[in-house]
Amino acid sequence: MRFGWRPLVAAAGATAAVSLIGVALVNRAQAQSTAGKTAGQVFKNVTTDSLKNLTVDDFLSAMGVISADLGLDCADCHPGAGSDKVDWVIDPPRKQMARKMINMLAAINKQNFGGVQSVTCFSCHHGRLRPSTTIQLDKLYGPPNEEQDDLVTPVTDGPNANQIIDKYLTAIGGTQKLATLKSFIATGTSLGYGGLGGGGSFHIYAQAPDKRTVDIEFKDHPERGDSTWAFNGKTGWIKSPRGLLKDYDVTGSELNGQRLDAMMAFPGQIKTTLTRLRVGVGDDIGDHSVDVVQGNGPNGELCTLSFDRKTGLLLRMVRFGTSPVGRVPVQYDYDDYHDVNGIKFPFKYTFSWLDGRQQFQLTGVEVNVPIKEAIFNKGAGK
Ligand code: HEC
Ligand code: HEC
Repeated sequence: MRFGWRPLVAAAGATAAVSLIGVALVNRAQAQSTAGKTAGQVFKNVTTDSLKNLTVDDFLSAMGVISADLGLDCADCHPGAGSDKVDWVIDPPRKQMARKMINMLAAINKQNFGGVQSVTCFSCHHGRLRPSTTIQLDKLYGPPNEEQDDLVTPVTDGPNANQIIDKYLTAIGGTQKLATLKSFIATGTSLGYGGLGGGGSFHIYAQAPDKRTVDIEFKDHPERGDSTWAFNGKTGWIKSPRGLLKDYDVTGSELNGQRLDAMMAFPGQIKTTLTRLRVGVGDDIGDHSVDVVQGNGPNGELCTLSFDRKTGLLLRMVRFGTSPVGRVPVQYDYDDYHDVNGIKFPFKYTFSWLDGRQQFQLTGVEVNVPIKEAIFNKGAGK
């Protein structure tokens, strides 16, 4: 947990430790009263062509990408004076430099890559404030560079995407059985809360084809607050854990991510949810060799799935949001599959995003139970 800059974690049913400040506090409050407006309209001093027309959500995602790509906290570019930890509006030198770089990046991609986002802040910065300039000889003669492309290079010498997905569907119960799954309610506990410990109890409500709500409660730690993440097939809404943030409508790229998560909760529809399926070079996750399949979600969003070559089970899903400064990765790692009435569900999963990482342990799943429509709408939760 480095920045605590937005309660995106609620997307997985956890709650963000708002370690740093009122961050989004101000912004969220502004966002509420200015729904449908751009970052350039909502904020006082957003001037780059790249960022000013984004929604507030997408603008904050871009800030998250920049922070991660340079290894910084928000306050490193937005230092406040006196007791204020941050001042978003003023322009200290590093922020000015960053603004220059945002414009430079747009120009590089436009002039050299036909406007395709080939270069990002990460391309040069690699998690550092100042890009390194010379390869270290230890690296040159050390283990190979394991960094990966977002876009897989399709290979054709192994099983094809359909075969890999079919093996997975068979492993978790078979297409016939999966077609009977119309809804489920999963319950469990969160293990680890942005470094503060676990102890939250959560519910995941899912209704085919595309509704999903995650609700988390900290009964023993009321100070952590309850949070809810809801997507009703059209609109998304997040109630974040702590006081001032309250709640907000999800917009832009993250809304596509919510939709994808909701649809992927029903593996039987995976082949219609993701299109343009292609297979990448095989990989390893821990001790497991995996087959890698990539596809595009309903709004074109990039999604990469890794399946255990032996068991066929899905071990990882990475979905990428978009921003003018680089993609916004969100990752689920699945483990501990249990059979529930003939369908296997991952009872453990880890959710990682640019701002933190959280583990969830399911204790039970009820399938095909009626779920009230209101659960998926704004204002859901207890
Ligand atoms: C590397 C420097 C850098 C980092 C790190 C950074 N920002 Fe920014 N921030 C900027 C720049 C540059 C702008 C102005 C962008 C423009 O003009 O289009 C900006 C503008 C903003 C604004 C608009 C303020 C206003 O009213 O004009 C907010 C809010 C903001 N950033 C939030 C954040 C948050 C939250 C984080 C941490 C996740 C963060 N920033 C991290 C450089 C940075
Ligand atoms: C083509 C390579 C390249 C790209 C792409 C790039 N940078 Fe840089 N950046 C540099 C270099 C090189 C420096 C160091 C300049 C120096 O040494 O004075 C730098 C320095 C900076 C600094 C000043 C660091 C300090 O010392 O405080 C900031 C802030 C910064 N970049 C932000 C960004 C952001 C944000 C992006 C993406 C929008 C980005 N950069 C993309 C090459 C790049």
